[in-house]
Amino acid sequence: MNNLPRHIGIIMDGNGRWAKKRGLPRLFGHRAGAENIHNVVEACADFGIEVLTVYAFSTENWGRPKEEVDGLMQLLQETIDKEVPEMHKKGVKLIHSGDPSRLSPELQKAIEKSVELTKDNDRIILNVALNYGGRAEIVKAVREIVQEGIKPEEITEELISAHLYTAGLPDPDLIIRTAGEMRLSNFLIWQAAYAEYYSTPALWPDFDRKELEKALEAYAGRERKFGKLPSID
Ligand code: IPE
Ligand code: IPE
Ligand code: MG
Repeated sequence: MNNLPRHIGIIMDGNGRWAKKRGLPRLFGHRAGAENIHNVVEACADFGIEVLTVYAFSTENWGRPKEEVDGLMQLLQETIDKEVPEMHKKGVKLIHSGDPSRLSPELQKAIEKSVELTKDNDRIILNVALNYGGRAEIVKAVREIVQEGIKPEEITEELISAHLYTAGLPDPDLIIRTAGEMRLSNFLIWQAAYAEYYSTPALWPDFDRKELEKALEAYAGRERKFGKLPSID
């Protein structure tokens, strides 16, 4: 396929609705959603996508009932333990975007170990946004910049980008949101300034290779102008 995005961000939404449709508890939807991640990573890698960022847990998701938050945290831990060895074999490099400090020590350790284990892989980067919020990320960047004593006139867009969790990655070209919602929900709000948006009614556990292909086709048909005039040809 021509005109592929280098970096895709996915807001993996609709796990709860997926479970509800089947008369199951919400956590079953989260489980089905977690199990879907490796399929989509593989599909992206096959297409030649360089970076996939998945929104797994937002800074706002702590506001859900304790039972759901605890279940999600346990599921994240289990998913890392179960999926990372296989992803490593398949050449996936894992990185984390978000504040680890509120996560359990076990989960923090599992993330660190996964990042270390896969650091030399180069087939695709899987960036997991976990306890991630775009506003909190910008606050973190500003704090670091102030702490470093940087002068106001030295503050540039590049400098701010370099203090975000995504430092060194290309900005996302395409943001996909499943489950039909059309909002960013605090996801990559700085980085996605010029991303193309794509929303699909498919619920995250049902988002497969075919759905990804549809999103890529839609992206390929977009004209990105970055504020300039359309190219004449
Ligand atoms: C997305 O699914 C997963 C997380 C936010 C962790 P939801 O849990 O938001 O599913 P819906 O929106 O209730 O269907
Ligand atoms: C966004 O989904 C967060 C993740 C997918 C992790 P939400 O379901 O939390 O977003 P809202 O509440 O519908 O905006
Ligand atoms: Mg939701």
